Amino acid sequence: MVRVRSRMWYDGVDNAPHRSYLRAVGFNEWDFSKSLVAVVAAWSELGPCNYHTLELAKYVKEGVKEAGGVALAAPTIVVNDGINMGTPGMRYSLISRDLIADTIEAQVNSHGVDAWVGIGGCDKTQPGIIMAMVRLELPSVYLYGGTAEAGWLGDRELTIEDTFEAVGAYLSGKITLEELRRIEELSFPTYGTCQGLFTANTMAILAEALGVSLLGSATPPATSARRRAYAAASGRAVLKAAELGITPRKVVTYDALYNAAVTLFATAGSTNGILHLLAIAYEAGVKFTLDDFDEISRKVPVIAALRPAGPYAMQDLDRIGGAPRILKKLYKANLLRPEALTVEGEPIGKLLERWQPPSVPETGILYDVEKPYKPYSGIRILRGNLAPSGAVMKIGAANVLKFEGRARVYDGEAEAFKAVAAGEIKQGDVVVIRYEGPRGAPGMPEMLKVTAAIVGAGLGESVALITDGRFSGATRGIMVGHVAPEAAVGGPIALVENGDRIIIDGGAGLLKLDVPDEELERRRKNWTPPPPKYSGGLLAKYAALVQQADKGAVTNPRPL
Ligand code: FES
Repeated sequence: MVRVRSRMWYDGVDNAPHRSYLRAVGFNEWDFSKSLVAVVAAWSELGPCNYHTLELAKYVKEGVKEAGGVALAAPTIVVNDGINMGTPGMRYSLISRDLIADTIEAQVNSHGVDAWVGIGGCDKTQPGIIMAMVRLELPSVYLYGGTAEAGWLGDRELTIEDTFEAVGAYLSGKITLEELRRIEELSFPTYGTCQGLFTANTMAILAEALGVSLLGSATPPATSARRRAYAAASGRAVLKAAELGITPRKVVTYDALYNAAVTLFATAGSTNGILHLLAIAYEAGVKFTLDDFDEISRKVPVIAALRPAGPYAMQDLDRIGGAPRILKKLYKANLLRPEALTVEGEPIGKLLERWQPPSVPETGILYDVEKPYKPYSGIRILRGNLAPSGAVMKIGAANVLKFEGRARVYDGEAEAFKAVAAGEIKQGDVVVIRYEGPRGAPGMPEMLKVTAAIVGAGLGESVALITDGRFSGATRGIMVGHVAPEAAVGGPIALVENGDRIIIDGGAGLLKLDVPDEELERRRKNWTPPPPKYSGGLLAKYAALVQQADKGAVTNPRPL
């Protein structure tokens, strides 16, 4: 049994009191000679996404026990993204990612555990756990809690995206209040995460591509018996990783991040994937920047027709074999780096070589790299005088790559939503929402309420949106986010005025404010930084520490 840390905490005469504490929670004499595994579940009943993770923790503990270890469960927090959308609570969403990594560091480092399994679900819980994995460098495995089942309205498959967009459709008179109500009732029928390839499911698939979770474990729904089987298998796997000496930084290398970026682009996954992979790379001490994303994005087409880029939900992908079916296509097309090690103790190429798809046709859900769903990648990195440090555009979920229009500027999301709801936004407008960046908001809230209202109003292809905030994975339309530097630190987005011409070119990777340099210089002289929105509490602490979006919006001053 590998006992890297537990000896120091629980062996010897002077540690007798520590043993007393664990005897009080059920340990016997033999347990002290076993590897001690923490099962950290991001758990909360305040939403469906992580509602069941304590239940899954029991299965992980069983797996640890079968493999000869002893396991104890502990929770970490969850901020439910969807419930907070469009509210002041959304500021805590991204903040919770770093908070989760910090609480896991405190919990794992202070109880002498030898290894751990992290169970995530809602959007930020997953990168938070993976950041803690590479920060702590103890043998560890990531387990996803699973997606919710999709809902049905007749033969129309529903996800929560339908409810968000139905609000815009109702406000613009396209559907009745009764129809909105039906969609609200039917779109989320079980616990688990939002059902499309939004941020949670994106991160679950990326975890497989990174090699930090078991191959095939991303897509079984939260309610599935296979998910419980993966939980037990993750418990067994963490002890095997400990025996083999596989620690997270041996897994999360440049090649693994490369594979994750390829997968993100090939699936048209959430733009949050970029932010989180940057943060994971930072914590792992790997130099993987927006330039790497930019280069990779130019050679990967979209091969998955998953919502919001296509019509299918996560459970449809699960039916045809899950993430390995995507990864195997990318591997066969030589787009992956096959030597990247996984927590299973083997390189990803070897695992994929052995993996065989079920005999279910993939028709319409997945495409070949040679004959892709869309010929360009799901996300592009944009640069230009409006975003000198970069911005991201989700081109996979937009039917328009190039857009020119006149700016409609709003200092905050609430103001912008009011304008959309009042019908003030017209074709050809570029809605600019600023002071919503990592430091300015603070916490880079997601703009799903506004973007869904624009799409719901039928303006998804004739109105663009630019922000220093973020987007939900469910966002579609002509949307550019993560503009860096942000307005609150004097980024050029702070200088935009109503009526300015803005050029967005997803193909060329350009975001341009068509205003002469001298005029921008004049505006800069008149600009003064706004006072911080919060003077105390977590939001103030975060605003003081956070870095810009192109650095993953991390708060850790330096990797451990
Ligand atoms: Fe948790 Fe969507 S709100 S995954």
